Amino acid sequence: MCGIIGILGKHEVSPQLVDALRRLEYRGYDSAGVATVDAGGRLDRRRAVGKLINLSDRLVHEPLRGHAGIGHTRWATHGAATEANAHPHRHGPVAVVHNGIIENFRELRDELIAAGIQPQSQTDTETVALMTGRHMEQGLSPVEAARATLARLRGAFALAFLFQGETDLMVVARKGSPLAIGHGAGEMFVGSDAVALAPFTDRITYLEDGDHAVLTRAGAQVFDGDGSPVARRETRIDVGATAIDKGGYRHFMAKEIAEQPVVIGDVLNHYVKGDRIVLPDGLDFAGVDRIALVGCGTAHLAGHVARYWFEQLAGLPCDIDVASEFRYREPPLSAQSWFVAISQSGETADTLAALHYARDHVARTVGLVNVGTSAIARDSDIALPTLAGIEVSVASSKAFTCQLTVLAILALKAAHDRGRIGDADLARHLADLRRIPGLMQQALDLSDDCRVLSEWLSQAQDVLYLGRGALFPVALEGALKLKELSYIHAEGYASGELKHGPIALIDRDVPVIVLAPHDALFEKTVSNMQEVMARHGQILLLSDRAGIAAAGDGPHATLCLPEGGGIFQPILYAIPMQYLAYHSAVARGTDVDQPRNLAKSVTVE
Ligand code: G6P
Repeated sequence: MCGIIGILGKHEVSPQLVDALRRLEYRGYDSAGVATVDAGGRLDRRRAVGKLINLSDRLVHEPLRGHAGIGHTRWATHGAATEANAHPHRHGPVAVVHNGIIENFRELRDELIAAGIQPQSQTDTETVALMTGRHMEQGLSPVEAARATLARLRGAFALAFLFQGETDLMVVARKGSPLAIGHGAGEMFVGSDAVALAPFTDRITYLEDGDHAVLTRAGAQVFDGDGSPVARRETRIDVGATAIDKGGYRHFMAKEIAEQPVVIGDVLNHYVKGDRIVLPDGLDFAGVDRIALVGCGTAHLAGHVARYWFEQLAGLPCDIDVASEFRYREPPLSAQSWFVAISQSGETADTLAALHYARDHVARTVGLVNVGTSAIARDSDIALPTLAGIEVSVASSKAFTCQLTVLAILALKAAHDRGRIGDADLARHLADLRRIPGLMQQALDLSDDCRVLSEWLSQAQDVLYLGRGALFPVALEGALKLKELSYIHAEGYASGELKHGPIALIDRDVPVIVLAPHDALFEKTVSNMQEVMARHGQILLLSDRAGIAAAGDGPHATLCLPEGGGIFQPILYAIPMQYLAYHSAVARGTDVDQPRNLAKSVTVE
């Protein structure tokens, strides 16, 4: 992961670099740094451990001048989050920022050490600076030196090089990791994504894998993996340069949770017209034999919920896997199968690689992405936007429920295309789906109850989440959210699995959160609750009015969800999962929007 930015501008560049890094901080926040070349050609850098604010503070006391610069926000892979390991890395006349992993850096570093060059950090990236600086000291020009280094690198990278004495030059390269070049009027930009460049320009050129480019203020010369000049298309990207703010909420996550009824409404308006589902041409499930739903983290769990819908509604066999496993287990695919990559960012390295695997094995591909300009959107046969709007909080909330809603629509389309449901049933299910935003609005009222319950939950060391059917993956999501945000150990289990292991953990100190709407599986889950209560386990039951009445006074506490939504009720149950995690994190004083060690976009394997 990590975010990179580079500017050949007309003004003092360090404030612009910091502003762009703020928009990239979702990619990592272990340290940040900038390097500039001033009017006299002097290359200098500032770096600071921790959040970007620490770098801004340092720049106030130790400003950097110059109209050319590069910047970086780091998610540590090689080497701890220290200043020595922070980017930009420098050796003599060159400074480098990098996103990705240089897989052969040990071999390259050993060569450099043998040549008498001593690394100052534990990072893979420094090797790139050391090699390039050395090439320059041996007489190569900056561009030749960068090229000679690039020729030796294996792994995934997006790189930007800045050179001492060169006030109008930057070399950038990408392989695996994303990189966007921005065109200004007499200015040039480069960044990990178009969002970072949005305040400066909407004219973007995406480099392709293996490309490198030589940037001056007059423009970019792009070269492909063979070193031949190539033309890459310039597109206009509308990501909006407006400031991203919390809209009066204490945290982005609270704002994003509250936005869900509106954004789910937007998804429905986009994909459903009356009783008709409107999807791009070619997305037909009639002759399809399998569907694979693949993603990472919360996106994977959205696929896990949707599996129940695809199988129950459409009778379509459905594989579900985390992307990092899918791509390496080499599943057989066919031209009759659909592969669906689910990703908020559209840049997650494993999901992108799984998509490429599917494409290479002839499956037809759909990218379900929130960031419409992302690599997964570009590389899929069909891109379906999930329309959640910008999600800033690292832990996903509205992006998850928007993914679920688009998947629900896809499952209904599959059921209809395959003749499993007729027009009347489709209309009935769509009516259920249309009720979700209103029901979500009611579910948002549970925030206060969740806050009170979180005072109890936040004291726990371990928490169990149980659910059956499509509520099982929602239980997994609840546990994931709690551990991500509050650092409390939490596990999600299928209720029926309780007796096969987790019951050994039960005592009065382990809260057990049970998701059980009053449906066909309710009685079975009540039996599992009895097993917990017989061992003095403390239950928090999430159900509807009928379920809570039927459960009696055994549970320690209850949360009453509105009834309705039919088979799509799991979308509703996501809200208390989010609030319980959110309020527990607030109660424990953790960093809600940027939890430790996590990043929003994971662009390394
Ligand atoms: C990271 C984030 C999660 C997210 C996952 C997948 O782990 O912290 O919130 O669910 O990546 O990201 P994607 O952008 O592919 O949905």
